Amino acid sequence: MREDRICLYCRPPACIIEQIVALAGLLTGEWFTANVPEDTRRDLLFHDVFCAELDNQVIGCLIFTSLDGSLQITLMATHPAFRGQGIGSRLMERFVHHARQLGFERVVVLTVPPEVKPAYHATVHFYQKHGFVLNRHYTELWEHGALELVKVLKSETGMISRRN
Ligand SMILES: CC(C)(COP(=O)(O)OP(=O)(O)OC[C@H]1O[C@@H](n2cnc3c(N)ncnc32)[C@H](O)[C@@H]1OP(=O)(O)O)[C@@H](O)C(=O)NCCC(=O)NCCS
Repeated sequence: MREDRICLYCRPPACIIEQIVALAGLLTGEWFTANVPEDTRRDLLFHDVFCAELDNQVIGCLIFTSLDGSLQITLMATHPAFRGQGIGSRLMERFVHHARQLGFERVVVLTVPPEVKPAYHATVHFYQKHGFVLNRHYTELWEHGALELVKVLKSETGMISRRN
């Protein structure tokens, strides 16, 4: 039977980095700009990542780091052959659980405004479905601006989590 699993890599090994860079390459053009695969290779020297793996092959990833007291998603991708099958949602659920366990109160993502690239309507829908709300529109970031989406984390009992 084919085995599918979600793994957390803190400072991932070279073989995982190569697979993530290849995945980012597959999405370059339609989704990502040409710099993204090699930028991601360098980011992964400092960032952590949840990977969805099928038969030891990375078919989805959620890369993240800590910035200004929030966990920030720096790249998320599902292999085109596996999109819309719940992989991104499972990665997001594991990531949010991890963020809560570490005591973070917010998780943040920057994404491309759909008016710049219409394909990103689906991406923004994905984040909103997972509880992210639009916080800010940066007009000076990236080539044509960026949207900041934020999810405020609540404890399992529904209270906003607080650090002592
Ligand atoms: C956004 C993305 C990571 C979601 O992963 P996924 O494995 O497709 O997500 P799931 O199957 O768990 O969720 C599907 C939901 O996401 C939405 N979605 C977002 N982008 C989608 C896409 N390109 N294809 C299919 N569904 C997509 C669907 O509308 C669906 O919502 P619905 O159930 O209400 O119809 C993935 O589609 C992707 O790699 N997109 C291109 C790259 C990208 O936008 N990355 C984020 C950059 S910030």
